[in-house]
Amino acid sequence: MRMKDKVAIVTGGAGGIGEAISRAFVAEGAKVAIADLKLDAATTTADVLTKMGPGAAMPVAMDVADEASVNAGVAAVATAWGGVDVLVANAGVQIVHRVEDFPFADWKRVLAIHLDGAFLTTKACVPSMKARGGGVILYMGSVHSKEASPLKSAYVAAKHGILGLARVVAKEGAAHGIRANVICPGFVKTPLVEKQIPEQAKTLGISEEDVVKKVMLGQTVDGEFTTLDDVARVATFLASFPTDALTGQSIVVSHGWCMS
Ligand SMILES: NC(=O)c1ccc[n+]([C@@H]2O[C@H](COP(=O)([O-])OP(=O)(O)OC[C@H]3O[C@@H](n4cnc5c(N)ncnc54)[C@H](O)[C@@H]3O)[C@@H](O)[C@H]2O)c1
Repeated sequence: MRMKDKVAIVTGGAGGIGEAISRAFVAEGAKVAIADLKLDAATTTADVLTKMGPGAAMPVAMDVADEASVNAGVAAVATAWGGVDVLVANAGVQIVHRVEDFPFADWKRVLAIHLDGAFLTTKACVPSMKARGGGVILYMGSVHSKEASPLKSAYVAAKHGILGLARVVAKEGAAHGIRANVICPGFVKTPLVEKQIPEQAKTLGISEEDVVKKVMLGQTVDGEFTTLDDVARVATFLASFPTDALTGQSIVVSHGWCMS
């Protein structure tokens, strides 16, 4: 077991990629706080994972864009389990519009959940990691941390910003044994992506099949979606990697779509 008794917080852990990472961590013996806006779904996921073991899970209500909510959630985990060893800043949303049509409120919402959320959860967890002599922070970036696509100005800006945050945290955290890395997946078939297929078909004036084949998977080496398992394996590897050789890095997991 590579994460026995490690305490992890996974934001957006109730579903999609966050759930898959939480499952992989529990399978490696970790105690995982499923921190999500959707408390009911987080509770269901936590129950399933605790039954699965050998680690355990607990649900935590958290809006990552709200400082008081983040601080209360992290405090609840520290009270239950004594502190935090691993943070996965994963919660995210996608909203697509052309730049000139992008409602400012939607722009701010995307930035608040991805970038403010990554900052606020980092800020709340670092003191506990310092007190425990170290920790690992994994940020959920995207191929869109390195590439751009039409209609995704807010998302691409946020995901590029996460690289900068991770690099600063890697430098500041090194003296305290804290490592920070970014995982950059290609398209993974989660609700976040399912929602985009009809939206992009409409905006781009093409069929849903072409959105999947040409827009989403056209540049992969195998025409395949990245899987939840692909991303969870990389998260577990990075969370349990034992030295500072991997810090401040961004690892692309995209079936060859992006090679930088
Ligand atoms: N699915 C993909 O293809 C893909 C590719 C690259 C990166 N990502 C990134 O992976 C992360 C997870 O995406 P996903 O596809 O699993 O999405 P998802 O929609 O399946 O799950 C997102 C989770 O985040 C939660 N959430 C949303 N807003 C929140 C908030 N303010 N506070 C707390 N929780 C909140 C949701 O309730 C949900 O459980 C996101 O950061 C996304 O940008 C996804």
